[in-house]
Amino acid sequence: MAARLATAPVRCQKPAPFASPRLKPALARKAPSLPADHSAAPLPHRFRPTGALMGRIRVPGDKSISHRSLMLGALAVGETRVMGLLEGEDVLATAGALRAMGATIKREDSGVWSIHGVGVGGLLQPAGALEMGNSGTSTRLLMGLVASHPIICTFTGDASLSQRPMGRVIEPLSRMGADFTASPGDTLPLMERGLSPAVPIEWRLPVASAQVKSAVLLAGLNTAGITRVIEPVPTRDHTERMLRGFGAELNVTQENGERVITLTGEAELRPQAIVVPGDPSSAAFFIVAALLVPGSELIIENVGLNPTRAGLLAVLRQMGGSIEELDAREVGGEPVADLRVRHSPLSGVEVDPALAPSMIDEFPVLFVAAALASGRSITSGLEELRVKESDRLAAMAAALRLAGARVEERADGLVIEGTGGEPLPGTQEPVATRLDHRIVMSMAVAGLASRAGVEVDDTRPIATSFPAFEALLDHTAGR
Ligand code: S3P
Repeated sequence: MAARLATAPVRCQKPAPFASPRLKPALARKAPSLPADHSAAPLPHRFRPTGALMGRIRVPGDKSISHRSLMLGALAVGETRVMGLLEGEDVLATAGALRAMGATIKREDSGVWSIHGVGVGGLLQPAGALEMGNSGTSTRLLMGLVASHPIICTFTGDASLSQRPMGRVIEPLSRMGADFTASPGDTLPLMERGLSPAVPIEWRLPVASAQVKSAVLLAGLNTAGITRVIEPVPTRDHTERMLRGFGAELNVTQENGERVITLTGEAELRPQAIVVPGDPSSAAFFIVAALLVPGSELIIENVGLNPTRAGLLAVLRQMGGSIEELDAREVGGEPVADLRVRHSPLSGVEVDPALAPSMIDEFPVLFVAAALASGRSITSGLEELRVKESDRLAAMAAALRLAGARVEERADGLVIEGTGGEPLPGTQEPVATRLDHRIVMSMAVAGLASRAGVEVDDTRPIATSFPAFEALLDHTAGR
C-alpha cells in the first residue's frame, strides 16, 4: 500500500513584499522579490559604516510563531486568519508544503493570511517532494505532522539544510511508528512514511531543542492517548501556547526540576484569529546596531518578549546596553513591548550557558557586540551552534577575524577581546556567510561599526527570515 512518490518540487506562491505604510517608498526600491532565485549568482554587498541610527521601526513577524500559525491553521476545521505573518522564504516553504498536503492558504490584499484547514488527521498525500529550502523549522515540524498521517513524503532542501542532523527527530518519530529512509548521517533528502494510528510516547529531549519538542507534540496531535515530552532545559514555548489557543488539551508541569508537557491526542482544533508579534531574533540586529553606532536612538515597535526568547536583552543589559521596554502588553497570547535602544559603551561579559536556549539564534550578533565591547567576552556550552544553518561558531570566528576582531574559537564557544568601542578595521575580501541569513545580517551590523565596511559574499540568504532588512537599515541610517 505504498503511495506513489513523485519528485517534482512543490513551489511556493510569491507574496507581496513586507511593508509598513511609513516605509513603503524605501521598500518598493529595495525589498527583494520572493522566493529568491537560488540558481542565480550570489549577491555580494559591502555594508559600510553609517551615522547614527534613528527613528521608529517595526521588524517582521516572528518566524517560529508564523510557522506554527500555518501548521495549526492547516489542522483546524474552518478558517484561521493570521495578521503579521512573516513573509520570508522559510515560512513560505511551510505554506507550500501544507498546500501540497491539502490546506487552502491564501494571502489577501490586506496582508492577512487565510487558512482553511483539513482537520487533525486530514493531511493528504502530496503529489511531489516537499521543497524545504533553508528551513530546519519547516522540515522538523512537518516531519512531526506527517509521522501520524498515513502518507509518504519526501523532504528536500538546499545545501545548508541537507547537512543538518535529522536523527534527533527521526528517533522519537520512529518510536511513534513512522518509517524513514534518510541520506547518510540522517540528513536530507529523506523519505518519511507516516503511520495512523501512531503510538503515543514519552520523550525526554536529549538536546535542548524546541524543534524536536514541537515535532513530537505535533505528531501526538493525531495520536490516540497521551504524548509526553520532558524538557530538562526549557526551550521556546510557542507550540505549547498556540496548541492551547487552538483548543488542544495540553498541560505543563514541573517534575524534579524538569518541564513536563502532556498532550491528549486526537485533538479537535478550533480555528483562530492570530496576531503575530515582531520577531525578537530579527530585532536583535537593530538592537545591537543601535547600541554600537554612536549617537543612535532607535525605537523598535511590537517586539515579542516571550521569556523563552529574551536572553539577548538580559546579556546586552549586563554589558551596559541601554534598552528600555515601553508599553508592555500582550499580543496574540505573547508578551510584547516597544524597545527604546540608545548607543551605549559595552563591557565584555561571561555569558551564563544556562541562557543559551533563550537566545540560541542571537549569538552571531552578540559576538559582534562583544567584538566592540571593552574587555573580554566568554561564551560556552554552545555546541548546538555548530549544527544551525551553518557552523555558527566557525563562521563567526572566521568572519570577525577577517574584519579585524580578536577571536579565539573553542569547541563550545568563542572568546572575544573587544576593541573598547573603537570601530573594527573592516574587510578587504568578502566574508563567507555559508548560506546562513544570521551570519549575513550579523556581519552587516559589524560593517556599520567598522572603518572600511564589511563585504559579505552573498546577501540572498537574508530573504529566508527578513526580506526587508537592507531597506530598513538604509531607512534607519537616513540613507
Ligand atoms: C526554532 C527553534 C530553534 C531555533 C530555530 C527556530 C523553532 O532551533 O534555532 O531558528 O521555531 O522551534 P532548535 O530547536 O533546533 O534549537
